[in-house]
Amino acid sequence: MSLVAPPPARPVEVVPSVLPADFSRLGDEVRALEKAGVDRIQWDVMDGRFVPNLTFGPDVIAACRPHVTVPFEAHLMVDEPDALMERYVEAGCSVLIVHAESTRHLHRSLGRVRELGARAAVALNPATPAVAVADVLDLCSMVLVMTVNPGFGGQDYIATMEPKITEVRRLVEAGGHDCDIEVDGGISPATAAGAAGAGANILVAGSALYRDPDGLEHAVSELRALASGAHPT
Ligand code: DX5
Repeated sequence: MSLVAPPPARPVEVVPSVLPADFSRLGDEVRALEKAGVDRIQWDVMDGRFVPNLTFGPDVIAACRPHVTVPFEAHLMVDEPDALMERYVEAGCSVLIVHAESTRHLHRSLGRVRELGARAAVALNPATPAVAVADVLDLCSMVLVMTVNPGFGGQDYIATMEPKITEVRRLVEAGGHDCDIEVDGGISPATAAGAAGAGANILVAGSALYRDPDGLEHAVSELRALASGAHPT
């Protein structure tokens, strides 16, 4: 009989994607998100090559940095992340998420993020298997399992990603890694429990937060409650 204690439950966190926000007044928008009780703010960085969309340069993020104290994460949906990562750390992002599909040398890229003093995280597109991160988990504080194909907000949640979330959690626990599991894409009150039940403890949400008729604070606490109730202990 195994006497190894199960790893402690990881706290559930809610992280907004800024994509649905009003870009003409981003300072006000990040303040509203912080007031709504989010744990971090995710900036979806898109270069028009890795994904067919173009979004936030480091200067936009740097301009918003003084408005709030909540941590920033940059989700780098870019080709050649190594060329850009230092600028996003300087802009005030304390977590950098590198896509496993975006660099030939994932281990080196994640090591570079840590050298820059940021927390390193790796993201998996829907078609990329969990095993792709098995040998870099020691460098990561988080794995992001995309639950949509990246590039746009407002897409439908891909429920067939749940077995992969569970597999990533198994890999993390089997290796004794101190690593969160984040999901991103189509997260809403209808899908939060499924993702958390599969093993995710960090939920990124965009459109579901901004379309809640009862406001951001209600949307954040509802997602947190649904996920906390479902997250395996
Ligand atoms: C998509 C982005 C997501 C997206 C989430 O590529 O990575 O963060 O903005 O938006 P929703 O929650 O609307 O799917």
